[in-house]
Amino acid sequence: TQRVAILVSGGGSNMVRLVESMTGDHPARPVLVLSNDPEAGGLRRAAEMGVPTAAVSHKPFKGDRAAFEAALSEPLAAAQPDIICLAGFMRVLTEGFTRRWQGRMLNIHPSLLPKYRGLHTHARALEAGETEAGCTVHEVTAELDDGPLLGQARVPILPGDTPETLAARVLVEEHRLYPAVLRRFAAGDRTPVLLP
Ligand code: GAR
Repeated sequence: TQRVAILVSGGGSNMVRLVESMTGDHPARPVLVLSNDPEAGGLRRAAEMGVPTAAVSHKPFKGDRAAFEAALSEPLAAAQPDIICLAGFMRVLTEGFTRRWQGRMLNIHPSLLPKYRGLHTHARALEAGETEAGCTVHEVTAELDDGPLLGQARVPILPGDTPETLAARVLVEEHRLYPAVLRRFAAGDRTPVLLP
């Protein structure tokens, strides 16, 4: 059985879907939900589902990413994960950390990568006059929002869309895509999942 740690910064709706998916004949099980924000809603939701949680605030490290990651690595190492899923984890990771986990760390990003890396993806897609948007799951490398594609889901952009309405439509697809990718990845299959 593959051991999965999930890193969150916020409400953790993707984390909930991942945890809920890992039952029965699924090749993986959740072993830790870890956050850089001790107040993150995702920690409470994970605890309610019976998943061990830990928090390491980035704030005392004042921008020293390597020192923050060293602290983050303590509960992570103790959980002995085979796979790390970033699920709304909003800290940029160093090359050292990404290299240590390369090939074993996944991220979900709310755009059709390689378009719109970084923040404010939906506002930027609307501003550019795109007719479709979506989300991407990829292996994490040292480059931000880059790395081998593991899955993608598309949604239409509709007249009158705002960043909020578009984000909600994309999030529905995130919740379908990430569990589908994790199941395949945990079984050793890196063929991209393409939805719908
Ligand atoms: C999701 O939309 C995810 O794609 C995005 O944050 C949201 C987290 O929601 N991630 C990023 O922007 C990563 N840079 P959740 O906490 O409800 O899963």
